[in-house]
Amino acid sequence: MKENRMNVAAHHWWPLALAEEVSAEKPLGVRCAGRELVLFRDQGGVARSLEDRCAHRRAPLSLGKIMPGGLLACPYHGWRYEGATGRCRMIPNLSAQEIVPAIYRVENFAVIERGGLVFVWAGAVDEAHERGLPPSGLLEGFSTAPHRGSTLLTIGQKDFVTALLDSPDLLFRLDDVAVVPFHPHGDPSINGGVLAVERAADFALALAARGQALADYPFRLRISAVLGTGTARLDLTTEAGAQVFSVLVASAPAADSVTAVHWRATAAGFAVRDRVDAAALLALVPQAAAAWRGPAAFHHSLEAPST
Ligand code: FES
Repeated sequence: MKENRMNVAAHHWWPLALAEEVSAEKPLGVRCAGRELVLFRDQGGVARSLEDRCAHRRAPLSLGKIMPGGLLACPYHGWRYEGATGRCRMIPNLSAQEIVPAIYRVENFAVIERGGLVFVWAGAVDEAHERGLPPSGLLEGFSTAPHRGSTLLTIGQKDFVTALLDSPDLLFRLDDVAVVPFHPHGDPSINGGVLAVERAADFALALAARGQALADYPFRLRISAVLGTGTARLDLTTEAGAQVFSVLVASAPAADSVTAVHWRATAAGFAVRDRVDAAALLALVPQAAAAWRGPAAFHHSLEAPST
């Protein structure tokens, strides 16, 4: 069962960090579907990802150093690894005439940066293809979005996307705005590998004061989620269609029941909650999420072009 989950996770591009979190100064250790990975930038500024375990004695490479030539040095005995291939290119106590054997390597992973996020293909690097990446329209405007954050939540990643689609207030706070549960505008639609659903939203204080939902909600929240991974864009508009706020929410399965969340927003006022109300989550009846998880969505995730 665990093996199957790992295999499914391996055939996706997972957003594992904000672009700013991956640097040429300090490696970043991350987890994806139970695997330990390290992210860093090489001397050309290109984001790289390797297995976070030295081929010598398994020390975590994320505790090591990025050397001036862009190789990642293990913190223990200093073997140095190339990000593009995972090969060990230098061992400190070898003479200049000795060559590092090609079998001294760690697994490397394909990396793509889009929309200010670093996506990693969690499977074999020669099986990576661009299908399944978020389309450019979903990421548009976020690479320079000034408000951003990263956090870990104690919730499974599929449950996270379920709540995001059907009850986003369980996961997020947006200053002065409340998304009205169980009030979608129309049915979810699937287009180009993205599921979209619109929900009614109201001023939070007004909604609380009334104690009940009314028909004349001033806002609409459009949620667009990529099939497969659930990387999502949330657009808040007025009823007349004027844009108020947009946020890109990227989630990835760090481990069983732990989701890593990275977000970029066009304005202040957005926050991920510290914890998810487990009782409310249990009571949630998936609607849009049922379409996101369903057989039609699975078929689209295999067939949809990336842009
Ligand atoms: S454990 Fe990494 S160089 Fe020895």
